[in-house]
Amino acid sequence: MEIVRSVANLKDSLANNSELKMGVVPTMGALHKGHKALLDVARKECKFMVATSFVNPLQFGREADLSSYPRSRDEDMTIFEQAGTDLVWEPSFTDVYPDQFETRVKMGVFAEKLEGIYRPNHFDGVATILCKIFNLIRPHMAYFGQKDWQQTRVVQKLIYDLNFDVELRVIGTVRDTDGLAVSSRNRLLLPEQRSSATKLYKALKVGIHSFQHGELDCDILRKKMLDVLIPDEDVRVEYLSIADAFELVELKKIRGPAVFSGAVWIDKVRLIDNVLCGVDIEGLVDAT
Ligand code: PAJ
Repeated sequence: MEIVRSVANLKDSLANNSELKMGVVPTMGALHKGHKALLDVARKECKFMVATSFVNPLQFGREADLSSYPRSRDEDMTIFEQAGTDLVWEPSFTDVYPDQFETRVKMGVFAEKLEGIYRPNHFDGVATILCKIFNLIRPHMAYFGQKDWQQTRVVQKLIYDLNFDVELRVIGTVRDTDGLAVSSRNRLLLPEQRSSATKLYKALKVGIHSFQHGELDCDILRKKMLDVLIPDEDVRVEYLSIADAFELVELKKIRGPAVFSGAVWIDKVRLIDNVLCGVDIEGLVDAT
């Protein structure tokens, strides 16, 4: 496995392999088994697998969130290596954003919904770094997790609107045995906060279960989900949403593919999760 930092070195390493089917797994490091699942699928599907590891300041709203973002560089490199990664791009801040850098990608209304309401400009930051990654690496395939469902929709829009020649693959959310979606930010939870952290997924499942038993009214479903969370004083609900899975528009009644999602705070740790209904993520390629 090769590890490169500068753009020049990245280009050199890629030049020798440009004929091979190339896949990219963009990450911010602090790897866990969710990232590993993406790497595993990429390894199977591509001849040359590139991973990126860069904590992108442009997508963080609050300085505190950026500075507390977990970092585990040595463990990350072991995980990349064991997953069979061919090349890791691990740039410094100035490799990505040199002094004169000032261009930003501005996503549309899509990125202003759900997470975008609470994290303004977040997806513009994500889109900006992904443009760089797609332009430099020119992958055939790009791998993203369902855990950040809205991010996958934003990426699909970016690919379509800016004509990137890359195919998006979405990999299902990996969870711990207690149901908590694995996330780099889980490392910031105290052991005694863990059971509160699992409540979001429990609430989403209550919503889905009720829908599967015939309840289509989203106000009623949202209330049922909220009832799971409210009794726990350690959980602060930021939002609970039932939206069209592709357009991300908030729904009154479920009539087609939907995403049940939410964000909660456990003290200073923000967690997000989602459950899909009526969406086949394997077949997403045609669903844009
Ligand atoms: P990061 O949070 O490191 O996540 C990298 C990828 O791993 C994302 O596609 C994310 O959805 C996926 N992932 C995270 N947790 C997962 C889980 N439990 N199951 C499955 N996949 C999971 O997302 C980012 O980084 C950044 O926004 C990035 C795309 C790298 C741009 O900076």
